[in-house]
Amino acid sequence: MASSGQPRIQWLGRWGFMLAATGSAVGLGNIWKFPYITGEYGGGAFVLVYLACILAVGVPVMMTEIAFGRRGRGSPIDAIRRVVNESGRSSMWSLIGWMAMLCGFMVLSFYVVVAGWSFSYLWKMLTGGLAGTSVDEMAAVFGANNANPITLGGWSTLVTLLTMIIVGKGVQEGIEKSVSWMMPGLVLMLVLLIGFGMFSGGFGDAVDFLFSFKAGSLSSEGMLAALGHAFFTLSLASGAILTYGSYLPKDASIGRTTLSVAVADTVVALMAGLAIFPVIFANGMDPGEGPGLLFMSLPLAFQAMPLGTLFGALFFLMLSMAALTSSISMVEATVSWLCDNKGMSRKSASWATGIVLWLISTLAMLSFNLGADWTLAGKNFFDWLDYLTSRWMMPLGGLGMVLLAGFVLKSETFRDELGLAPLPYTLWLAMVRYVSPLGILVIFVDALGLYQVSFAAHWPVLLALLVLVAVVGEAISPRLRQALSAR
Ligand code: TRP
Repeated sequence: MASSGQPRIQWLGRWGFMLAATGSAVGLGNIWKFPYITGEYGGGAFVLVYLACILAVGVPVMMTEIAFGRRGRGSPIDAIRRVVNESGRSSMWSLIGWMAMLCGFMVLSFYVVVAGWSFSYLWKMLTGGLAGTSVDEMAAVFGANNANPITLGGWSTLVTLLTMIIVGKGVQEGIEKSVSWMMPGLVLMLVLLIGFGMFSGGFGDAVDFLFSFKAGSLSSEGMLAALGHAFFTLSLASGAILTYGSYLPKDASIGRTTLSVAVADTVVALMAGLAIFPVIFANGMDPGEGPGLLFMSLPLAFQAMPLGTLFGALFFLMLSMAALTSSISMVEATVSWLCDNKGMSRKSASWATGIVLWLISTLAMLSFNLGADWTLAGKNFFDWLDYLTSRWMMPLGGLGMVLLAGFVLKSETFRDELGLAPLPYTLWLAMVRYVSPLGILVIFVDALGLYQVSFAAHWPVLLALLVLVAVVGEAISPRLRQALSAR
């Protein structure tokens, strides 16, 4: 394709992309967020809706992103520009790439702070800094950990440094090499932790909680959270997967690889649930504790058990590694863009990115102490980063990409790049044209507070709307394309 200069570097091994993309997908989202939102929104029913969101929105968007990356062989900005130019469309569409790259960077700015919590808890577990006898005492430990900007900043600085060192070493030597031992290590630790959970006495309750479907336990809010989380957990619309896709060899199947990544990501999230909830239930704690589940309830639960400190440390080591394999994916887009467009070496591009990242993440870190009152419309800087990226930029970027692929670009482009048989191709097209956009629009309607979407009450309306839009869309889409190309 239109890539200029020397051919783009590719993953070295057969599993390179798969490991790196799974490393990106599996992170704090799976181990920290998924269990606590599952706890908050009622267990099994939530898990089911989440799976549907992954299949209906996550997988089609991810396939589209990888196809953009491999077709355009570049950072999100360059790749999208090349692919749209190939169809004779305006380079303005590469604004989607700009937004995605910015989004990945913004996510990382607050992600390193949370990853820093994990590293500091690993340290505390090993050195006995987590001794406590009640959730309140644990909350005090957590509070003290956040209150000191020097230590908290130290931990997030460490995460930033490790990330930039790995990325600075390059795609094959840095990213591919590190994920090739961190990912298997992570799975091994998870299996050990589930084994520990099996003997804790709370395993049956945990299985019941995660997998038994209690209809009626699910709120519309829960459904929306499931949809939003599908984007976050698969690292979508933030340049990470697109850039990794730009290193994917031509002969790899995008459909099959995407499904494997999505399945692996989901399996790890469920396994994390199976590692955490038995310990929580065995100690008679509340699964719906919220964000504090991992940093307050869990350390306390571990300590109450024989060998708990050892397994607790293992848990935070696993969490830290999962966070690191994700954070490297979030800067890769920016680093690759700097190398391709500003003639920088990988090392200098990584250091430059790292310095800017450090400055912004320091501001995010300060939201927990000195800057807790620096709020705008009730949100501090950390909250704003989270809100803007997960409520607006990711859905918007995803929407832009699926609409481009579904309606605007020449259909040969994606037919060729995805290389699917007619039936799966039609299925993908139906998803990117109608199902994913409608799902994303629901996120916006909610974020704007225009209307309280109640899935339970409105599903017939939503379904009718979907069919209507699809019928009308199919009727006018050739004309739509003509109208767009006439400009
Ligand atoms: N998917 C990762 C997780 O679940 C986080 C992540 C990695 C991410 N890259 C991203 C989130 C890009 C948003 C955008 O923890």
